[in-house]
Amino acid sequence: DLPSFVNVVEVGPRDGLQNEKNIVPTPVKIELIRRLVSSGLPVVEATSFVSPKWVPQLADAKDVMEAFRNLEGARFPVLTPNLKGFEAAVAAGAKEVAVFASASESFSKSNINCSIKDSLARYRDVTVAAKGFAMPVRGYVSCVVGCPIEGEVPPSKVAYVSKQLYDMGCSEISLGDTIGVGTPGTVLPMLEAVMSVVPVQKLAVHFHDTYGQSLPNILVSLQMGISIVDSSIAGLGGCPYAKGASGNVATEDVVYMLHGLGIETNVDLGKLMAAGDFICKHLQRQSGSKTAIALTRI
Ligand code: HMG
Ligand code: MG
Repeated sequence: DLPSFVNVVEVGPRDGLQNEKNIVPTPVKIELIRRLVSSGLPVVEATSFVSPKWVPQLADAKDVMEAFRNLEGARFPVLTPNLKGFEAAVAAGAKEVAVFASASESFSKSNINCSIKDSLARYRDVTVAAKGFAMPVRGYVSCVVGCPIEGEVPPSKVAYVSKQLYDMGCSEISLGDTIGVGTPGTVLPMLEAVMSVVPVQKLAVHFHDTYGQSLPNILVSLQMGISIVDSSIAGLGGCPYAKGASGNVATEDVVYMLHGLGIETNVDLGKLMAAGDFICKHLQRQSGSKTAIALTRI
């Protein structure tokens, strides 16, 4: 049985723009987020409170967040790798944060400069602090099928990290195929392993489209009962610490497929495409969304 409604989590302003060579001006980011919200998206991941030395593209996190601190109608989670990031996010008005662990030891080291164990300890501190503000914390697991350094990642490791994040109080666990190598053949056993330790209502999927497998991977995830899907406007994105990883699956393509399946999203595809057009014009790039390209030709 497919879900009747899917929560689309837009990650373009964060996962997309963190990977742009040229830094996008703050007012352009704010306008993009404003347009994404007006298309009906319920959640827009706005930015990251990470080290500006590691991700200079998002060094304006405070200014971006402050533009939305009082906006109703959508949730604006932000990435926080430690208590320092959490405190800065709260000060800027964030009402929801996300922590990001990895199922691969090598990727943990290259992305956040610590072991999986140490990262979980940091995230426990963040979840404890968030509880004090009654703030939801989203927990990401990266490299859920493959790692850019270690190769194949066993489903049991993904289940272990997911369970740790769930047990420390994460409200939602997003399973990230960081480098986009998964197929339904590898995604299914991974989901089965995670679903044996975390309730399916708490799971989201986060696919990068390096091998063009995102839509089939999303379809099997929906068939498994998952109803939260991450995607990025115009397919922007990648990860600065995962060489060769392409953008996330395009939000326009996900919404087109979901509506085709009779699944509601609350998103207006026309307005969504206009948001995509806005950022592609700014970046002087063709959209990474096949749906946007096709519908623009009509
Ligand atoms: P570190 O260098 O080990 O940290 O970095 P440190 O604690 O030793 O601090 C070093 C410096 O950073 C200090 O400043 C700190 O104050 C500062 P200095 O004294 O040198 O001037 N610092 C901070 N500044 C601002 N905000 C903070 C913060 N923390 C420390 N929160 C750290 C460790 C985690 C900070 C660093 O590695 C980092 O920022 N990493 C972020 C990497 C990142 O953002 N990656 C992309 C997001 S994850 C992703 O894309 C995957 C995902 O999409 C899912 C998927 O696809 O799988 C989520
Ligand atoms: Mg990602």
